[in-house]
Amino acid sequence: MNFRTIIEPFRIKSVEAIKFTRREDREAALAAAGYNVFLLHAEDVLIDLLTDSGTGAMSSAQWAAIMQGDESYAGSRSYFRFERVVRDLTGFRHIIPTHQGRAAERILFHTTLKVGDIVPNNNHFDTTRANVEVEGAEAQDLVIAEGRQPSVIHPFKGNVDLGLLERLLDQHGDRVPLVMVTVTNNSGGGQPVSLENLRGVRALCDRYGKPLFLDACRFAENAYFVKLREAGHADRTPKAIAQEMFALADGCTMSAKKDGLANIGGFLAMNDDTWALAARNLLILTEGFPTYGGLAGYDLEAVAQGLEEVVDEAYLRYRIRSTEYLGEKLIAGDVPIIRPAGGHAIYVDARALLPQIPPLEYPGVALVNALYLEAGIRSVEIGTVMFGLHPDGTETPAAMDLVRLAIPRRVYTQSHVDYVAEAVLEVAGRRRELRGYRIVSAPPTLRHFTARFEPLP
Ligand code: F0G
Repeated sequence: MNFRTIIEPFRIKSVEAIKFTRREDREAALAAAGYNVFLLHAEDVLIDLLTDSGTGAMSSAQWAAIMQGDESYAGSRSYFRFERVVRDLTGFRHIIPTHQGRAAERILFHTTLKVGDIVPNNNHFDTTRANVEVEGAEAQDLVIAEGRQPSVIHPFKGNVDLGLLERLLDQHGDRVPLVMVTVTNNSGGGQPVSLENLRGVRALCDRYGKPLFLDACRFAENAYFVKLREAGHADRTPKAIAQEMFALADGCTMSAKKDGLANIGGFLAMNDDTWALAARNLLILTEGFPTYGGLAGYDLEAVAQGLEEVVDEAYLRYRIRSTEYLGEKLIAGDVPIIRPAGGHAIYVDARALLPQIPPLEYPGVALVNALYLEAGIRSVEIGTVMFGLHPDGTETPAAMDLVRLAIPRRVYTQSHVDYVAEAVLEVAGRRRELRGYRIVSAPPTLRHFTARFEPLP
């Protein structure tokens, strides 16, 4: 069929009502939440674009698989199905289930890092960075220069700067126990990494004898971008491309709450027997027995089924197109966004949109809160609140002040997206009225989750 309209490749079997609120309700709710949308009650949100993590709709096949869950403490059939699916996709020898991505990160970093080590990545996500830093190690972001410039168009803005990686390995290689690459690069705008770049990273890792780990949360979206944008891959299946990505690495951390199409779950996978032994021992201490890793048997089933569905080409075509569709509407309305559109989200450049608000008055928070007050939409700041506070207690502007509109998988329809676009354009039209915020209270790490704010006069 040769029609231009790309439709949702599913029909809806079960629906959940969303609640419409009045502006004064939202004003009261936001004030009670300390002007931090993480602290809102979700039922006071109309369209929730806080995250694409764990918020997707599962398929009828996933719900059916859940009924097949084997809840045996050890050696559950569901584990072996999960292991088979993950191994088929990744090829890794050891498949270690965890309750979500950050558990995999914590186990990997706690068993491999020591004080003073350095972990390079294109961009660490917040939990990844925090899990590196809590071990006394340093998280270095080595994305290419284009990846730090929102308006510069480049097909693979998630690529690692191979020159910077080579210099790091050359000068401080003894302090680098592993190299990480995040696909797609969430903190950098959901931007993909090319296979060519991954091969370049692999070659450097081989030269310096370092293992390469993927932060694979959005591996399927990355694979589809490779199919669309990298020469020579147009006729391959997303699954074959994903398998090649994993084959270039020695292991991965995974949050199945993204491209696992599940509401919870994750895994740590690797080839190295010694590292896997240490990881499993820590897993038993903190997550659970190695055949369930903090998950129910039915969760393992949902993840296994989700990993098979996520590489479906019709799904990925719709997924990538629906994000791009929102991006096109914002670009047409002159809203500055990271270009091209990311896989799972649109990132509005709040610093460019709100030049009157300096980074330390949090332009991202100002925009997030305006979107909630105006339209009941919840988004998230990825900027100075999230990344501006350093382990030594100092605060500096983050590289960018972004507002992420993350699209849950298979949840919202085109009219929801049209509404979001209309609301963003409305707020952007009144950009001059927006004011900054100051922090009233915040914890010393991962402060964005629980900080409380006050609007500046
Ligand atoms: N790595 C990346 C690139 C992520 O985006 C996330 C989570 C994690 C690791 C951690 O996984 O949440 O299962 O522990 N990102 C979510 C987000 C929270 O909103 O982008 P987790």
